[in-house]
Amino acid sequence: MVAVLGYSREQIVEAVKEMYTLVADVPTSTFHFPVGRKACDALGYPREQTDPLPETLLESFAGVGNPFNANLIQPGDTVLDIGAGAGTDSLIAAGLVGSKGQVIALDITPAMIAKLSQTLEAAGYTNVTAKVGSAEAIPLPDKSVDVITSNGALNLVPDKRRAITEMFRVLRPGGRLQIADVVIRRPVTVDCDNDPRLWVECVVGATVDEDLVTLFRDCGFQSIKTVRVQDYFAHSPSAQTREIATSFGAYSMELSMCRGERAPSTLQQWLKRLNPQRWVRAIWRRGLTGVTALLMALISCYGTLGALALLPLLGMNLILDEGIWALTIAAFTVITAVAVAAGWRRHGSTAPVIGAVIGVGTINYALFINYHLIVEATGFLVLAGAAGWDLYLKRRSEARALGLSS
Ligand SMILES: C[S@@+](CC[C@H](N)C(=O)[O-])C[C@H]1O[C@@H](n2cnc3c(N)ncnc32)[C@H](O)[C@@H]1O
Repeated sequence: MVAVLGYSREQIVEAVKEMYTLVADVPTSTFHFPVGRKACDALGYPREQTDPLPETLLESFAGVGNPFNANLIQPGDTVLDIGAGAGTDSLIAAGLVGSKGQVIALDITPAMIAKLSQTLEAAGYTNVTAKVGSAEAIPLPDKSVDVITSNGALNLVPDKRRAITEMFRVLRPGGRLQIADVVIRRPVTVDCDNDPRLWVECVVGATVDEDLVTLFRDCGFQSIKTVRVQDYFAHSPSAQTREIATSFGAYSMELSMCRGERAPSTLQQWLKRLNPQRWVRAIWRRGLTGVTALLMALISCYGTLGALALLPLLGMNLILDEGIWALTIAAFTVITAVAVAAGWRRHGSTAPVIGAVIGVGTINYALFINYHLIVEATGFLVLAGAAGWDLYLKRRSEARALGLSS
């Protein structure tokens, strides 16, 4: 079971199916995202591409970009459309592959696939097959597809690494992938109170832009290019969704890439995941720099004292340069204060900044002017309070932006 931000996979899948059943069956309902022909126009689909398509299918279009800007599909290709919905992109792909090619439209929502199947039958398409199935377990053999296209589905998938690994598996070596999806600049870090509404509103389930590209690279994709980005949520009819999107820097991105020859081994993938640069970036984005730097200051200070006391019991001696030691502790305390000060931009409160300055001043007074354990420990306590308060305020402002009560 995957649990993300308080959700279980089952909750996410049920919420997704419920939302997209409504998009399939009652497309005239009010949605928080753009739907139908108007959405196609807003996202830049040329009219020559959409005008020939059946209206019953266009009315349930719910894409977030135009993956065909990548221009990867050739006549004769076998194309898989992941999260095909009512099939706008599948039918555009069917036109591109021609009678010698074929398109497989995959979607987890049975109502979408039922609607697409009816359209296919009525319009006499013979090179498109519609299947109910999940992106996390694609019901196709290995290396059976030339091109994957996907529009707005990955952000709704609970286990994105698994879905991308599946994409790699079903693509032929050298196969191509075009995808449009919602990404964010700042990750959602609060527990969403099991409110699946937030997941299906396309922001909470979205991945940080750089992390999404890294994920594709980790899973063996190459030549990854950003084809186009756009302010997708500007087209949302819901003011609340537009606000949520703005506070997380959400937008839509069109990517093109190709599958490498071989999937990286599990060891290679783990080594990439252990890259310290990634950890530093993740800590910064999650607003944890202050707490982490404070932890490093405490480890440098009391951890070193502990090592000095314990190592001789094991017959080892630690030679310590007290100047460098004090400077290291001081540097971490200053980083803590700077990180806490940066939090002001998110929550607007000066109290943590004042606390951090007092804490750093007290610790450094003890380190460089007049050492006393009580003074130093008091400084650490004040600094810890400031870092903790800053973190609490950041999480609270995020929860408010998402419309959560806590
Ligand atoms: C935003 S809609 C886009 C639909 C379609 N691509 C279009 O452009 O109109 C996302 C679609 O992805 C489907 N979906 C969500 N999670 C999925 C999953 N795990 N596996 C397959 N399809 C999924 C939904 O049912 C929905 O139809």
